[in-house]
Amino acid sequence: MKERGFLVLDFGSQLTQLIARRLRELNYYSEIHPFNLSLEKIKLMNPLGIILSGGPNSVYETGAPLRSVAELQAVAPLLGICYGMQLIVKDLGGEVERASHREYGFNQVRWSQGFTPALEAQIKSQKVWMSHGDIVKTLPSGFQVVALSESGHPAAMKGPRAWALQFHPEVAHTEHGTELLKAYAQDLCGAKPSWTAPHMLENLMNAVRTQVGTQDHVLCGLSGGVDSSVVATLLTKTLGAERVHCVFVNNGLLRHQEFESVMEHYKKIGLNVVGVDATHEFLSELAGVSDPEQKRKIIGRVFIEVFEKTMKSHDKLVHATEKIKWLAQGTLYPDVIESFSFSGGPSHTIKSHHNVGGLPARMKLGLVEPVRELFKDEVRTLGRELGLPNDMLMRHPFPGPGLAIRVMGAVDENSLRILRETDHIFISKLRDHNLYHKIWQAFCVLLPVKTVGVQGDGRTYDQVLSLRAVTSQDGMTADWYPFEFQFLREVSNEITNKVRGVSRIVYDVTSKPPATIEWE
Ligand code: XMP
Repeated sequence: MKERGFLVLDFGSQLTQLIARRLRELNYYSEIHPFNLSLEKIKLMNPLGIILSGGPNSVYETGAPLRSVAELQAVAPLLGICYGMQLIVKDLGGEVERASHREYGFNQVRWSQGFTPALEAQIKSQKVWMSHGDIVKTLPSGFQVVALSESGHPAAMKGPRAWALQFHPEVAHTEHGTELLKAYAQDLCGAKPSWTAPHMLENLMNAVRTQVGTQDHVLCGLSGGVDSSVVATLLTKTLGAERVHCVFVNNGLLRHQEFESVMEHYKKIGLNVVGVDATHEFLSELAGVSDPEQKRKIIGRVFIEVFEKTMKSHDKLVHATEKIKWLAQGTLYPDVIESFSFSGGPSHTIKSHHNVGGLPARMKLGLVEPVRELFKDEVRTLGRELGLPNDMLMRHPFPGPGLAIRVMGAVDENSLRILRETDHIFISKLRDHNLYHKIWQAFCVLLPVKTVGVQGDGRTYDQVLSLRAVTSQDGMTADWYPFEFQFLREVSNEITNKVRGVSRIVYDVTSKPPATIEWE
């Protein structure tokens, strides 16, 4: 464990990440580990509290994830959530049974006296979100029920060094969920909220110093996005600009004047950055290729080639080649968690957009991943602590393969020009109307469909463009943004009046799922 905090044991719930996020939001450090993490390792971590997550199984099912609760209870106070509560009950000698009436979705629970003094004065009854088919029938000895659901089943219980909730305090739909987690951390575990931005920064800087040593240099690929910018700034602040060599590659697939403006930003914040224009290399390799995965592969491969060539030949880098021993990567905690599945197996998703993937092995470099324990919102907090401008921290995500996956079909200069001009109009309008920050991601997609139009006195036969704008928490699910018609009218008018090559505009009204955010 990076520092003393809460251990969240994952029993397979889709919501486990949220538990750790909520605790971090409350300034308590937390880490997620598979349910079967060895007791030895847990003891070494010396956690402040151990949270047993929910999970899809029933505790009596064959193959259900089980472990000794008493052993854990001896290490630190427990919080069982949903399946976690049932495991505590079963393992400590109580009984769980299949409910005749399952509790899914919203429920109104009533608290009784004797739960936690901090909360019981304020909350008598509250709305919670539940999702369970089993219920607690009898409690283990020493435990008492402290809340009941609408159907009269135990919704919360309390015992020696353990609390348990049948509902999910980590989801936003549960009222007072955060307060409950806070009460657990404070009242039962006696924890102090120490995971603050300055503390986080100091902690990460120390970790970088220890890993990189005093002589080595680091190579850092920049993408213009939040994660790589924060990583580069953190490393530069820790090791000094002369030891952190940043490379920003223009792959020719960036947006309107993006390369120039991002380079300027980087220089302003003091990064030691080399800009490489490799537009020609990328576009010539992409010519005539229309399969999306093929495009991604080509972009990934050319990126590595350009990166290697730059290292060997750029005058600002050749003198440092010998000293460069590390490659920095902006891996985030969700990628790390994904890579241990609940069953302890290997990752099921290797993201093709980790386009520096093959580099470390080929170049014999070690990996520095200073934000690999952080969630995206923590990376932004860290960026703020490092003094990065809000503009840079709050940008919409932009995919590594850039505009190439927004031109449906083969990419060429003309389609990229159309996307640059239209995207610029769309995004500027969002900013003008104060909509940019209400939206997770917005962009244009150029379709390989031509339709007839009429402009002036002439007939046109040009392409269709789709606008896409979605709200989302993390990109895993998303919903299309309900613009006012007047806004869409303005964007459509400006694009069709100003951009050559587009005859018709449509708006994508599909959520994710069933669609994805990008079209390719
Ligand atoms: P999808 O389209 O899968 O996108 O719903 C989810 C998020 O991931 C981004 N995305 C990518 N990012 N390389 C990237 O760096 C890619 O190949 C890639 N494909 C999708 C997408 O923009 C959205 O934010």
